[in-house]
Amino acid sequence: MSNAFNSIIVTGGAGFIGSNFVHWVVDNQPGVYVTVLDALTYAGNRENLNGIPENRMTFVHGNICDSELLEQLVPEADAIVHFAAESHNDNSIADPEPFIRTNVEGTYCLLEAARKHSVRFHHISTDEVYGDLALDDPARFTEDTPYHPSSPYSSTKASSDMLVRAWHRTYGVNATISNCSNNYGPRQHIEKFIPRQITNILCDIRPKLYGDGLNVRDWIHTEDHSSAVWAILTQGKAGETYLIGADGEKNNLEVLRSILSRMGKQPDDFDWVRDRPGHDRRYAIDSSKLRRELGWAPIHTNFDKGLDATIDWYSNNRDWWVSAKEAVEAKYAKQGQ
Ligand code: NAD
Ligand code: TYD
Repeated sequence: MSNAFNSIIVTGGAGFIGSNFVHWVVDNQPGVYVTVLDALTYAGNRENLNGIPENRMTFVHGNICDSELLEQLVPEADAIVHFAAESHNDNSIADPEPFIRTNVEGTYCLLEAARKHSVRFHHISTDEVYGDLALDDPARFTEDTPYHPSSPYSSTKASSDMLVRAWHRTYGVNATISNCSNNYGPRQHIEKFIPRQITNILCDIRPKLYGDGLNVRDWIHTEDHSSAVWAILTQGKAGETYLIGADGEKNNLEVLRSILSRMGKQPDDFDWVRDRPGHDRRYAIDSSKLRRELGWAPIHTNFDKGLDATIDWYSNNRDWWVSAKEAVEAKYAKQGQ
């Protein structure tokens, strides 16, 4: 598979993981020009791409479901790296419709464009397509784990993965898929667990923990996700799936207590709130295929250090999140969360 990519389209490049990926590419891959395609939904922010030189990136404000727009952009590119999605489970439970449009229909539109113009396609997905594991189960997800999604969000991501597999097998699209565990780091929307709790404390609001707080997530720093995606884009085998994870299993109570203590609060300075319907119990990734076959390894292996840096980022970038805080909390309050 050719790894000479001079020009890539990054969908969803104004969101959390997409913007971190664009910064990573600009910083680490000097010959690559990036076209960001992003609809700037509530989760997208043009400012996330501030500081990127004009000779390295074009920003296109548009929708991945707009086939006419794709017809203009895709023939100019060597590859599409597809991050754009509706990404929040709680939102998908309140209103699944945009998830079907963007995650399923949007992926279909991109695959058709990739097929027509023979463009390399890398699809960003989640470990949530595999459903969940029990707390006392020693197993972790592998590339062979059967799909068993629980929420509207994860079922639309599973659907999009299936489309990618079919477009590879039937039409020969040069496609790969990665399924990554929970990301943390700078520029994550404050609706998500870690930034919600940090910004709650910064606003003198008590953090909120769902259910019994024992649900386990397998945390990875978003920069390690970026380096893994690049390894797969450039060295991955067409038609293959790679799991991305950094051995970061922790339960939510542990993570919250760590945030509380780092921010000078007491261990019980939070509220227990209504559980998420269908709440997945545990995610855990076995990333040995990626490490063995492509030589990838994470560099942010100290979660406490990464958490400190993330707390600092939200403390130092209040303007980035403060205008969204009231509406996010009002939405959660309506759901009893
Ligand atoms: P995010 O919600 O922060 O960003 C999504 C971006 O996509 C936003 O910039 C938004 O404007 C854009 N977008 C949404 N709909 C669009 C459309 N129809 N057309 C064009 N742009 C559109 O999401 P994120 O957390 O950065 O997640 C990025 C990807 O990574 C998603 O595919 C998600 O499923 C996957 N993923 C996320 C995690 C995680 O922990 N957040 C873990 C594994 C995989
Ligand atoms: P989230 O960041 O929404 O990611 P995901 O649902 O993709 O795993 O949530 C991470 C975990 O934190 C999940 O188990 C739900 C829980 N959670 C809370 O306990 N309180 C909160 O306020 C939020 C947003 C999530």
